[in-house]
Amino acid sequence: MATEPGIETPEDIPQAPHGASGGVSRRAILRGGAALGAAALGGAALGIGNQATQALKPRVEVPHVHGAGGSGPVRDIQPGGFDPTAFATRFDAGIVSRLPDGRTLRQYHFVAVDREIEVAPGVWFPAWTYNGSVPGPTIRCAEGDRVRVRFQNAGSHPHTIHFHGFHPADMDGVFEVVDPGQTFVYEFDAEPFGLHLYHCHTTPLKRHIHKGLYGAFIVDPPGGRPPAREYVMVMNGFDTDFDAENEFYAVNTVAFHYMRHPLRAVVGEKVRLYVVNALEFDLINSLHIHGNFFDLYRTGTRLEPDEFTDTVMFCQGERHILELEFRHPGKFMFHAHQSEFAELGWMGVFDVR
Ligand code: CU
Ligand code: CU
Repeated sequence: MATEPGIETPEDIPQAPHGASGGVSRRAILRGGAALGAAALGGAALGIGNQATQALKPRVEVPHVHGAGGSGPVRDIQPGGFDPTAFATRFDAGIVSRLPDGRTLRQYHFVAVDREIEVAPGVWFPAWTYNGSVPGPTIRCAEGDRVRVRFQNAGSHPHTIHFHGFHPADMDGVFEVVDPGQTFVYEFDAEPFGLHLYHCHTTPLKRHIHKGLYGAFIVDPPGGRPPAREYVMVMNGFDTDFDAENEFYAVNTVAFHYMRHPLRAVVGEKVRLYVVNALEFDLINSLHIHGNFFDLYRTGTRLEPDEFTDTVMFCQGERHILELEFRHPGKFMFHAHQSEFAELGWMGVFDVR
């Protein structure tokens, strides 16, 4: 597809406040958090987040007020910021129309914009985003749909969108670099069904991905999957002092968010998790769910589970669909089984009723 000159910048992308995080290594953060020790995984974890943010000289003071039950931190990121709770259940079907051959066409408009995002209370990260958020929108379609993504680069660096999945070479988002002010149209048939991802593929690659240019790309099988309560989890991290190490880890960007705002589940009801690993700098990530086991569908490309387990490892770019049913009510943690990642933000809770 040919590139064309710059298009209007959408007004619906709010300006983020400016602010920079001070320099401190994650080792220092870990030393600061070590006092909490094993208690962290029990629920006082947010204390570590607080210490971390204080060490980073936050723009906003973080008060030490623990929520009822001791499982909650202290406060949220500023209102109006990225909401991981809403993100987890937001699936973007695109603008849907019918092609002459009867197939479904799904059209998307992605705009790359530079934007500061709050990744923990008071900690800001100068992100590069698709449509103003990290991760970008979760694209959802069915196998065989035609997908058309009009990509406008309103950022300050050259970018692309590289989709995982079958597509022609010139739709691969690698060699057709889209410079600031330019637009490119990606178009392909969605296949194979499964859980995929998209991300920028401009060099230096790890920096372009780490800055926030990634998202989940779900292709449903013909006829869909059985009904379930579905959540998207994009595992990520943030190098807030630019030393090529992550200072904060999360699922869906905001450290400890799901400790403060547990994901709901119901005893006996099927829960389906679309889990994508977009973490940079660390080669391996993982997910462990307490008090339960899950069916693991590797890359989601088969309808029969590959494993029945309670912990799964992810390399960079790896993703899996998990299905489980809670047997017991109560609060069950989920977190990276790398304790370091968990204590730096990658932990959350299912609240099972
Ligand atoms: Cu890029
Ligand atoms: Cu990739």
